[in-house]
This record gives sequence, structure tokens and C-alpha cells, in this order.
Amino acid sequence: MLKIGFLGAGRMASAMVKGLVNSGHYRPESIECTSLSGQSAQQLAQEAGVTFIKNADTILKEADVIILAFKPKSLGDFSAPLTERRDSPLILSILGGTSFHSLHKHLAGSYSLVRIMPNIPCEVGAGATLYTLEDSLPKEHKSTLTQFLNALGRSFQVSEEDLETLTWVTGCGPAYFYEFVEAFIAATQKAGISEAVARTCVEETFFGSARLLATSNHEAAYLRGQVASPGGMTEKKLKLLEENNFRNLIEKLVADSHK
Ligand SMILES: NC(=O)c1ccc[n+]([C@@H]2O[C@H](COP(=O)([O-])OP(=O)(O)OC[C@H]3O[C@@H](n4cnc5c(N)ncnc54)[C@H](OP(=O)(O)O)[C@@H]3O)[C@@H](O)[C@H]2O)c1
Repeated sequence: MLKIGFLGAGRMASAMVKGLVNSGHYRPESIECTSLSGQSAQQLAQEAGVTFIKNADTILKEADVIILAFKPKSLGDFSAPLTERRDSPLILSILGGTSFHSLHKHLAGSYSLVRIMPNIPCEVGAGATLYTLEDSLPKEHKSTLTQFLNALGRSFQVSEEDLETLTWVTGCGPAYFYEFVEAFIAATQKAGISEAVARTCVEETFFGSARLLATSNHEAAYLRGQVASPGGMTEKKLKLLEENNFRNLIEKLVADSHK
């Protein structure tokens, strides 16, 4: 049984830990987590049935897979060599906007590093996780990585440059979606509908539309056309989006502001 250790137990680590456990491929006893104050890690341990570890060194010395799940600014907390183990453990960094170059510069020691960019739907096995590898990654680590990523949903290998760009879609995308849902619920309420009814109608409409897109073999443009008949009301509303630079706004969300 591989030992999985999380350094950081915040929002993303929590979704990943729950995703791994929910997948049925990782037993809670095989997962450990720690955090700076210990507070978030204790809470996660309680919620997911995994083990709280007080000292990050224990994870760094013993885990087979170590996930760096803190904020990039916390990299400076690790000034001594990260690990001095002969077995060169597999380290997965989920740190947004933090290149291999920068990680290696901050984190001395002996380890194999993979950058991954998960998203919070991984909690229910529906994540879209990006990953990028270094040429030196040993074969045995590759199979460990595949097993780990499969437990979280679908995964896509990309170049490091594309990972930075796609982070604005996969990493941040869920937040855009939830903002969209919230805005629709608020607008529906403003139009006089009760909150409960607005919430159910909006959520079910978007879930249903996403499921149809995922299962029908049709592209979004075709499905949109199935709703917006020429000259009809929906087409008029879509025109409103166009007139208000909707696509331009989306371009701004996806444009890589790390560059
Ligand atoms: N949230 C997302 O949807 C998302 C998506 C993709 C990638 N990411 C990446 O995931 C990372 C974490 O983001 P988040 O949203 O989960 O942040 P978060 O909720 O603020 O969690 C940060 C965690 O890091 C811990 N921490 C801070 N310094 C530490 C240290 N020296 N050693 C061990 N743990 C330490 C904190 O511990 P305390 O309990 O002490 O506060 C907390 O558990 C970021 O690098 C971000 O780029 C996030």
C-alpha cells in the first residue's frame, strides 16, 4: 500500500484527498496530511478519515508520494533540503504559476518532481487534471502517477508552457462556472422567483446541459442552435451577450497573466 502525504490541507488538498478516498482505490489509512498551523489538516483528517501528522518531516521522510499543496508563497518555509532519501520519492506540485525551475531552485534534495494542476471536481472523480513531466522521471513513478491521476477523474499531459495557459481554464474554471450559476440564481430571484425554485431550476438546467454535451457527440455550437432558432427569443438574448463583448471577456479570463 503506497503512502500518500499532503503538505498543506486547504481547499485543493481537501478535494484531492476526498477524491482519492471516494475513488475506492486509496484507503484513508494510506493518506496523511499536515499543515502549518495544523488546523486545516486536523479538520481534513476528521472529515476524510485520513491521518493528521504534526510534523511535515515525517511525511517527507516516509511517504511514497508527497503532494505540495500549499500556496506558492509558502515555498520559502522549506529552506533545508526537502528530502535526503535514497529512494528519491515522487513529489507532485500543485502550486499554481510555479515552474520546475523555480521549484528546484527553492527545494534542494533528492526527489522526482511532477507538476500537476487539478481542479475541485476531482472530489467527485470528475476532475480535469493537467500534468507536465521532466524527462528524468523514472518509469516506476510514471505508473504511480497514472494510478493517482486516474482516481481523480481525467488527466491530460501537456507542456509546461501549456499548463500555465490551461490553468486559467481547468484550475480557475470551476470558479467561473459557479459565479455564472450564482449570477443566474440572483437574476432569477430579481425577476420574482423564490430562491429555492431559482436555485433548482438554474442548477438543473446547467447540469442537464453539461450532461447532454458530454454524452450526445454534438458540439456546443450545434446544441446551442437546437435552442436558439433563427429570429427567436433565445437568439435575441444571445445577441445581447455578443453586443456586450461576452467572448472578449472570456478571452481575458483565459489569457495567461503569468506572461
Ligand atoms: N483552490 C483551487 O481550486 C486550486 C486549483 C488548482 C491549484 N491550486 C493550488 O493549490 C495550492 C493550495 O491552494 P488552496 O486554494 O488549497 O489554498 P488554501 O486553502 O489557502 O490552503 C493552503 C494550505 O497550505 C498550508 N500551509 C501553508 N504553509 C505550509 C507549510 N509550510 N507546510 C505545510 N502546509 C502549509 C495551510 O495550512 P494552515 O492550516 O496552517 O493554514 C493550508 O492547509 C496553491 O498553490 C494553488 O495554486 C488550487
